[in-house]
Amino acid sequence: MRIYRGKDYKDMSRKAANILSAQVILKPACVLGLATGSTPLGVYSQLIEWYRKGDVDFSEVVTINLDEYKGLAPENPQSYRSFMNENFFKHINIRPENTNVPEGLAPEAEECARYDRVIRAAGGVDMQLLGLGHNGHIGFNEPGGSFDKDTHCVSLTESTIEANKRFFEKEEEVPLKAYTMGIRSIMQARRILVIASGADKAAVVKEAFRGPITPQVPASVLQLHNNVTLVGDLDALSMI
Ligand code: GLP
Repeated sequence: MRIYRGKDYKDMSRKAANILSAQVILKPACVLGLATGSTPLGVYSQLIEWYRKGDVDFSEVVTINLDEYKGLAPENPQSYRSFMNENFFKHINIRPENTNVPEGLAPEAEECARYDRVIRAAGGVDMQLLGLGHNGHIGFNEPGGSFDKDTHCVSLTESTIEANKRFFEKEEEVPLKAYTMGIRSIMQARRILVIASGADKAAVVKEAFRGPITPQVPASVLQLHNNVTLVGDLDALSMI
């Protein structure tokens, strides 16, 4: 695993954006696996800036997002579809039909099977961007789940609901379930780019990359992938 240390959030975001833009420049019709959460926001802003300068072109790129809250319509401002449109897609020249996020309102079995078909039809993910939940979750793969799942529906843990409630007006509005790419789908990406920022992520970064490989820390499975890059700021990387 290669580790890049950014001096702060902005530097970390620029380093990670450099890696993603290199992927797009080398393979213009690549498939990017994308993530939500606050960590990738700086990466998306940096990519938008470079797009505006003419340095990176998304016209042939396909994106596949990791997850979506079950029960939220795409146009709900709290949906991950809205998050991606607002923070990234609407600012770049990606074709809307090339962007994929699970449909929060679609029935469970059909939607999970459809999403796996989308990933396969795209030829798999070239580069998967991942943030880390405080409990080691990736996408919405919570601790204790098995490593051999494709897209599936999960019940969110208390700690995830607690962490994500900042985006909702009331805690009761935070959905209790989500559709997520599984660990198997994530591990099939050809390259994985993990980003982490802040002292509150230092412990989970250590557990994930220096601790035992266990479903109790879903991100620890990444130690078994042969092409992982971790980009963090000094605070997040302070324990490794
Ligand atoms: C959510 C997302 C994850 C993300 C995590 C961390 O639970 N489903 O994909 O990595 O939050 O978010 P943040 O970057 O805001 O800490």
